[in-house]
Amino acid sequence: MASFRILGVWLRSAALVTGMACLATPAMQAVAGVDLPKLERGKGEQCVEDVDTIRRLHPALLKHQRDDTLRRGIRTTRHSLKKCVECHASEQTGSVAASKQDFCVACHSYAAVKLDCWDCHATKPARKPVRQAGALGGASHPTPLWHGASGVIK
Ligand code: HEC
Ligand code: HEC
Ligand code: HEC
Repeated sequence: MASFRILGVWLRSAALVTGMACLATPAMQAVAGVDLPKLERGKGEQCVEDVDTIRRLHPALLKHQRDDTLRRGIRTTRHSLKKCVECHASEQTGSVAASKQDFCVACHSYAAVKLDCWDCHATKPARKPVRQAGALGGASHPTPLWHGASGVIK
């Protein structure tokens, strides 16, 4: 009886350790492209960076793009979120984040990443410019860490 209880404790802690290992790895697996849901290929010949780079660095690249655009007033489009959406919107839904198979969501739900970007930014190309997508006009950005301490969109 006692040994069963010990076994139970052991199993539980083993499960806990395994669980923690799982929590720690999905991002890496996603980045390595292992076990991913099939991702729709983007439009055009290639991405704005080589695939390995964009997989690993797109959070930083988008953040940098945003800071440049909003705080330094530099308007380039290389890592523009709008451009990502233009090339990666799904054939079926016309969006990057409307269904579970849509490009950005397919990967993020697997990696347990949740974005607030779509509260303001359109998930579909054109026709719906970001300024019409919601309560934007001069609003504070909800993720001030990304836009600087003030979080104010200039
Ligand atoms: C509260 C609304 C709001 C949220 C949420 C938000 N943004 Fe923005 N973002 C803006 C506004 C407003 C602009 C300025 C739009 C413009 O000038 O075109 C902007 C501009 C940007 C730009 C530069 C323009 C472009 O298309 O490249 C990037 C990049 C960007 N945001 C990325 C993000 C990312 C990534 C997230 C999620 C992590 C996010 N934003 C969440 C409001 C928001
Ligand atoms: C001009 C169109 C275009 C733009 C703009 C674009 N992409 Fe891509 N993207 C592609 C294509 C095409 C591929 C497939 C490239 C390949 O397989 O060689 C791709 C691949 C990717 C991949 C790898 C997918 C996989 O199978 O693992 C990611 C992640 C990605 N893009 C994210 C982004 C992000 C984030 C942005 C915006 C900063 C962006 N892309 C902008 C066309 C684009
Ligand atoms: C190949 C898988 C994959 C695809 C496709 C992908 N992402 Fe990601 N994304 C990730 C992973 C994994 C993370 C978390 C990695 C990290 O934190 O370093 C992440 C994180 C992010 C973050 C930072 C989130 C935060 O709160 O810090 C943003 C912004 C982002 N992705 C935007 C996009 C957009 C926009 C698209 C679609 C154009 C996209 N991603 C497509 C795998 C992907």
